[in-house]
Amino acid sequence: MLFAMENPLISHLERGVNLAKAAAGFHRGPMGKVYERLARPLFFRMESERAHEVGVRGMAVLGAMTPVCRLLETWQRHRIPVRPVELFGLRFPNLIGLAAGFDKNGEAWPAAAAMGFGHVEIGTITALAQPGNPRPRVFRYPAHEAVINRMGFNNEGAAAVAARLARQPGPGRRRIPLGINLGKSKAVEIEQATQDYLASFQALADHADYLVLNVSSPNTPNLRQLQDESRLRELLAAITAANRDRATRAGKSRVPVLLKIAPDLSWAQIGAVLGVIFEYGLDGIIATNTTLERPGPFARIEQAGGLSGAPLRNRSTAIINFIARATAGRLPIIGVGGITDARSAAEKLDAGAALIQVYTGMIYRGPFFAADLAVAVADRQHPG
Ligand SMILES: Cc1cc2nc3c(=O)[nH]c(=O)nc-3n(C[C@H](O)[C@H](O)[C@H](O)COP(=O)(O)O)c2cc1C
Repeated sequence: MLFAMENPLISHLERGVNLAKAAAGFHRGPMGKVYERLARPLFFRMESERAHEVGVRGMAVLGAMTPVCRLLETWQRHRIPVRPVELFGLRFPNLIGLAAGFDKNGEAWPAAAAMGFGHVEIGTITALAQPGNPRPRVFRYPAHEAVINRMGFNNEGAAAVAARLARQPGPGRRRIPLGINLGKSKAVEIEQATQDYLASFQALADHADYLVLNVSSPNTPNLRQLQDESRLRELLAAITAANRDRATRAGKSRVPVLLKIAPDLSWAQIGAVLGVIFEYGLDGIIATNTTLERPGPFARIEQAGGLSGAPLRNRSTAIINFIARATAGRLPIIGVGGITDARSAAEKLDAGAALIQVYTGMIYRGPFFAADLAVAVADRQHPG
């Protein structure tokens, strides 16, 4: 198993005990139990990215079978109380979204509603197609319900993804809102980043229910510098101007734009980012991306990349809490980072998140994790 190769310090025994402990207290639906007993052991025997590809393919196949998706959605509707939330002018049927990075090229998202998601975010997409970093570049740590990845925005590029989205249901005809997460092309220097994001904006805005400016992946050199006040101001000024301009054209409207931030910023840096967000009237913030920190047992693990899953949970929640207090709740927050059960999901909502997203938790809990979570937190869902 990959894990055993990477971290011989943690025994098989500890792994089993920790997974059982983490699962306790979280009511998984029948599909979740089947996944953990039967499918997860098979997936975890595969190299991590191979397992990811199988997951994306499976979801894409499901998404192409519209009648099956509708049947599954009907089943989900019986389980999940529908109390839609209105945010950024969009209607979210439940609070749980699929975080960016799973469906990088917009192939799998049509199945997301059938799996119980209330929104889905594709990408990160860059203006230029790019292969990402050399493989292997995704590593599981089951004892800690964590992942380290250094994928580096592997994606087909904005034009190819726009062409795919043009063949799929567009805004207004979707079961759930679709977010498109944009990043900087690796070949483009940081000084030209604004032009690069603008090119992606122009290619993809027509297809997005909301857009995300991702300035927080740790795997593209210098990208996080875009969180610096002056660079961020330049980027947000250009994108918001392009968005305003778009709204003046016939049949077009302004697209909600959010910023996704890193968990490794200081409070002062987050304060400065919030100032720029308000200056340009962004619609919300996504907190957080993966961390470069290596808390606890990860101090001994030498694997470059961003850490996600349970070890990120507390830091991400603290940041959501900080943002909610600093803005007196005036800035919608999508909370993401280390949600692996109902308690960690509820904690994000209590901290001030309006919606939440999951990625690593789904690797450990399976394709119907979102549906189980949506049931578990439904009582916190107040219609907008
Ligand atoms: C394998 C992998 C790839 C990711 N790729 C992206 C990405 O392309 N863009 C992005 O904004 N976030 C990406 N993320 C970060 C997630 O969207 C999320 O912010 C982070 O993993 C924390 O949530 P989690 O603990 O539920 O996984 C990726 C995460 C993982 C594990």
